[in-house]
Amino acid sequence: MKKLMIAVMLVAFTLTFTLAYAADTVTYDSKKGAVTFDHKGHSDKMDCAVCHEGTPAKIAVDKAAAHGVSCKDCHKKDGGPTKCNDCHKK
Ligand code: HEC
Ligand code: HEC
Ligand code: HEC
Repeated sequence: MKKLMIAVMLVAFTLTFTLAYAADTVTYDSKKGAVTFDHKGHSDKMDCAVCHEGTPAKIAVDKAAAHGVSCKDCHKKDGGPTKCNDCHKK
């Protein structure tokens, strides 16, 4: 019984993980033009822990965060897009 429980938990864990990955790209709609965040593409290039503290979970990205700590600060440092229209596409 214990083994079965562990197996069930493992499957549930794997499913959660796969579902999390279902969101390969996240699109932020904005008046300035939609911004597409390639979560998978970024994850392939760097460790989850670069962006996620502890167990990876949803990060709330608002305008201030996007133009700072969540997106643009790293782009300035590591050579990602920093011009408005490199992120915002109409
Ligand atoms: C470049 C930064 C970055 C990297 C690297 C990154 N993530 Fe994320 N992740 C985010 C952001 C930003 C969000 C929030 C997206 C949104 O607005 O819905 C997110 C969301 C998530 C979510 C929540 C999905 C949801 O909608 O509930 C999970 C789970 C997750 N990431 C797992 C991972 C794992 C696992 C890795 C490593 C393989 C990883 N992330 C790498 C930035 C990153
Ligand atoms: C820890 C560093 C880091 C963070 C955080 C980060 N990026 Fe990036 N991003 C990069 C780098 C480096 C590139 C350039 C990749 C390349 O040219 O191969 C990039 C490229 C991009 C591109 C160009 C197209 C592409 O996907 O290659 C877009 C758009 C982008 N990032 C959006 C975002 C958004 C939106 C966020 C926040 C939700 C974000 N990034 C967070 C490092 C980061
Ligand atoms: C690294 C990518 C990136 C760059 C560069 C960037 N933005 Fe953004 N911006 C975002 C993201 C992501 C959001 C959406 C956050 C959200 O969903 O609340 C956003 C939100 C906004 C909003 C809010 C729109 C609304 O409808 O609420 C405005 C206005 C804006 N950006 C203007 C600009 C201008 C002007 C520039 C250039 C000076 C710029 N952005 C550069 C990623 C970027």
